[in-house]
Amino acid sequence: MKPQIKTILAIESSCDETACAIIRDGREMLANIIASQADLHAQFGGVVPEVAARSHIEVVIPVIEEALEEAKLTWDDIDAIAVTRGPGLIGSLLIGTLTAQVIAREKQKPLIGVNHILAHAYASFLTDKQQPDFPMLALVVSGGDTRLMLFQEDLSFETLGATRDDAAGEAFDKVAKLLGLPYPGGPNISRVAESGDDSAYSFPIAKLGPESLEFSFSGLKTAVLRQVQEIIGDQPGLSDLRKTYQLPPQAVSDIAASFEKTVVETLVRGLVRAYDRYSPASVVIGGGVSASKRLRKEILKAIPETHIVEPVFCTDNAAMIGALAYRMAQAGIGVNAEAETIEADSSLDVL
Ligand code: KG4
Repeated sequence: MKPQIKTILAIESSCDETACAIIRDGREMLANIIASQADLHAQFGGVVPEVAARSHIEVVIPVIEEALEEAKLTWDDIDAIAVTRGPGLIGSLLIGTLTAQVIAREKQKPLIGVNHILAHAYASFLTDKQQPDFPMLALVVSGGDTRLMLFQEDLSFETLGATRDDAAGEAFDKVAKLLGLPYPGGPNISRVAESGDDSAYSFPIAKLGPESLEFSFSGLKTAVLRQVQEIIGDQPGLSDLRKTYQLPPQAVSDIAASFEKTVVETLVRGLVRAYDRYSPASVVIGGGVSASKRLRKEILKAIPETHIVEPVFCTDNAAMIGALAYRMAQAGIGVNAEAETIEADSSLDVL
């Protein structure tokens, strides 16, 4: 009989967070360490892949050691190693997957390769007393993806609609940059939006058809750019989206509030449309943008039973990787008992 997997050490390094968590029985968190590189990338206005990979190399082992120390466990107590396979930045993913493989081989532990997007959807299984039921509707809104998924049962899902262009988080980051706000854009836009008038500007919600469950944010981003250029009297040019503009503080706050309102309306509208169509037993949201106070408030207004995790489990973390890995292990899916290779895949799909 195969040994039971109860305690999982999970590693996440898909973008600019190096994280390690130790999870028992899929939800009991024994350790949750997150080393964010946000300050490192802030000077460049966004994540620089080479800088991210180098930083992962430096901190991944200390982060794992810290997790073991926090959990007061040794390697003998760990039943399996889980690691993010993708999607993400290839250099960053490679550091996590190679580290996990070396440890698994050296310590003779099974390896579980986890899809990062699906793990965002499973973050709600970590902290809620009431676990989500199936069929489960999930909205994942992160820096790299925006996606509605329906899980008819555990680990079995279809994508109902995804973004046709930019992810919601990417739109936050790009709009923040053009408004001269620091990286990461989401929290900084939310902060200045608090003192802004959200009806000062009217930005468009992409019209993709009354039945569509897809999203699109690139038109919104361009609408914000044109508004900024109109305010300062600048002529539109081809590379304008990479520029940063100097606006009066109140205009920055008003644009941020109007932009945030439009993104939130877009997301809530899509989620409600899917909810009405599929009548799921539960609704979850995950991904960095779900840390937005405004989004959380509006989603709870529209669908009060939605499972919304603490902001620390919305942005990248390893606990959600451990939560999904546990369920995979229980179902006997994707567990590599011989500690062979886990291939990093930057464009790993969620088909
Ligand atoms: O899930 P995440 O940490 O990384 C990916 O898996 O992509 O998401 C990062 C994204 C960034 O684009 C960041 O601007 C956005 O989440 N974000 C927020 C907030 N906190 C982070 N967006 C809106 N409001 C926030 N409070």
